[in-house]
This record gives sequence, structure tokens and C-alpha cells, in this order.
Amino acid sequence: MFLQLSDLHILDRGTLPVGADPLANLDRAIDIIEASPSRPDGFLLTGDLADSGTPVAYGLLRDRIERLSGLSGAPVVVVPGNHDNRAAFQLGLLGSYGSGRADTPIDQVHWFGGLRVISLDTVVPACDGGTLRDSQLRRLQDELSTPARDGTILAMHHPPVSSPIRSMAAMALDNPDRLAAAIEGTDVCLIVAGHNHHASAGLLGRIPVWVGPALSYSSDALVEDSYTGRRGSAFSRIDVADRQPLVTVVPVPL
Ligand SMILES: [Fe+2]
Ligand SMILES: [Fe+2]
Repeated sequence: MFLQLSDLHILDRGTLPVGADPLANLDRAIDIIEASPSRPDGFLLTGDLADSGTPVAYGLLRDRIERLSGLSGAPVVVVPGNHDNRAAFQLGLLGSYGSGRADTPIDQVHWFGGLRVISLDTVVPACDGGTLRDSQLRRLQDELSTPARDGTILAMHHPPVSSPIRSMAAMALDNPDRLAAAIEGTDVCLIVAGHNHHASAGLLGRIPVWVGPALSYSSDALVEDSYTGRRGSAFSRIDVADRQPLVTVVPVPL
């Protein structure tokens, strides 16, 4: 069982314009997880981890990641989003600066027994929308050419499906067809994304796509013509059995 925490938007201090306190929301979520009998196999943090990508925010987050992984020794997969700063993200969360160049995507492969999680960095620096480069898609196809015993989950920030909010639809992954072609016929059984601050389920070809709710604040999916944020916090529980995913939203009371 995985827990997906998305769009944490950690600040150095204070609250976001909608009045949300991202660090308090994260601490509340960790309290809920800690108090539960569940011990996840892994955590998926799907982007926009720091609101403005500062080293201080990543330091605050690193402390919480250590707390999360201390719960069950479970790995924490971190994926950058458009609010993150790649170099600070790499230095603050992955502990090395060598490959933390702003122009080098941070793609990783993680194994959980026979289940593979591939994290993909869809960030375009200084841009809110996302993409996957040709080189990333080639590496992804190379990796997927060897099937995993229990299937593969892709974790990324920008969804390869649309949103009912027009401004978010315009900031989705810009080449979902290329991704669909790259994973066609492979063992990918679920794509997990964030970015929209509202939960959505869709399909890329025949692959289920889950767009997780945000931990920091929510967007109003009933307002199509503008982006309306409000306080609200949730994360996702992801179970995969026999390559069949089941995703469940866990609200975080304010
Ligand atoms: Fe976000
Ligand atoms: Fe985002």
C-alpha cells in the first residue's frame, strides 16, 4: 500500500493566500498516518513540494520525510513540480548537488518487491505546464522493456489527462500522446499525478490515471473559467493487487 501526498507547497513560514498553512496540513496528515494501524510500503510525493523552491522549505520538508520514513522504514519517492526548484530540490531532498542542474530532469526507478515505481520529472523551468522530453521517453521505454513481476506505477506531477478547470487543462502535460505511445503494451498499470489540486480519475489509452488531491489547499472543480482555491486537504491511498489499482481518498480535517 502506498500513500500519495501531492502539492504540499511548503512555505518558509506563514500561510498561502487562501489562508492554508501547508506545513500544518502536512503535520496533520503525518499525525493521521502515525495514529493509524497501516504501515505503508512507500510514499509518493508528486510535486509542488515547496511553494517557491527555497532551501529553507526543503529543510522543513526533509524533517517531515524523515518522520514519514521512520514510521515503517518505507521509502519516500519525491517528484518535482512546477513550483519546485530543481537544484534546491536535489540538494535539499536527495542529498547531492552533482546532477542537480536546472536543465537535467530528475527521473528515478524505485523497487517495492516486484512492483516498480518510475518517477518522471515533467518540469519545464519557469513554466507552469509540463512536458516529457524525447530523451526521457526513450529512457522510459528502455526501462519498461524489462517487465516488472508485479507491474509498474508511473509517478509524475503534470497529469496526462485534462481538467474541467480551463487554466489547469492548459497547464497539463503537453505531450500525453507521446507518453501513451511509449507505455503502450508495457506493464504500466497506473499513472499517478498531482498539480490540479482536485482529484480526478481518467484514462491514458487503457491505462488508469489518478490525479491526487492536494495536501496544501483545494481548487474548485465546479468553476471552469477561473482558478478558485480554498482551504481543504487530502491525500490518497493506493493499493495494487494483481496489477489492479484501487485508489482511495483520505481527507485531512482542518
Ligand atoms: Fe500545486
Ligand atoms: Fe503544479
